[in-house]
Amino acid sequence: MGTRGGGLHPDVERELFSAECLAVRVEEVGRTLAAELSGKRPLLLGVLRGAFVFTADLARALEPVPEGTEVGFLRASSYGAGTESSGQVRVDVSPPDVRGRHVVLVEDIVDTGRTLAVLVARLRAEGAESVTTCTLLDKAARRVVDVRVDHSCFACPDEFVVGYGLDFDERYRTLPYIGVLKPAAYSGLSSD
Ligand code: XMP
Ligand code: MG
Repeated sequence: MGTRGGGLHPDVERELFSAECLAVRVEEVGRTLAAELSGKRPLLLGVLRGAFVFTADLARALEPVPEGTEVGFLRASSYGAGTESSGQVRVDVSPPDVRGRHVVLVEDIVDTGRTLAVLVARLRAEGAESVTTCTLLDKAARRVVDVRVDHSCFACPDEFVVGYGLDFDERYRTLPYIGVLKPAAYSGLSSD
């Protein structure tokens, strides 16, 4: 189920990961991360806007959090138009001070890898002590840039997905599950 009794959204072709399945896996990855980060005062940095739901759930799955854990966000956009990556990555909101911090970069989805590569390089350049990458979804088949993904909750097929924070043209972010969008629902507008 995972659709809270409402059935699938009419623009969604099929459910990929139910709300229950997301909760179980995020909890699991949270526990792994918490063990890894013990004693490190980690800074969890979510990539807006798509990762806002995942970041919130992951942050709570770290409980009891390593001492000194902080949560912040930065904003990057790579999609110029429609559902294809433009190849350009803009960092619109700067990260907080990362000097000397063990940063966990939290992404909704790694597609070509361009966004993650740009953000990791930037955090390193700004003096992060370490950068661990954690993504909800990994569309490995579409990778263009060789970037290390340290933690991935789910492998994602090469289809446009929405829900659990992921949007198309700012729609569908609030769906509690992740589903494949019907191609007929694409309208050639921006998405991040
Ligand atoms: P790159 O190509 O830089 O892109 O790895 C990562 C960003 O692209 C967005 N993206 C998607 N957003 N459904 C979405 O809602 C998708 O299927 C999808 N594929 C990529 C996303 O913002 C991610 O951060
Ligand atoms: Mg994103």
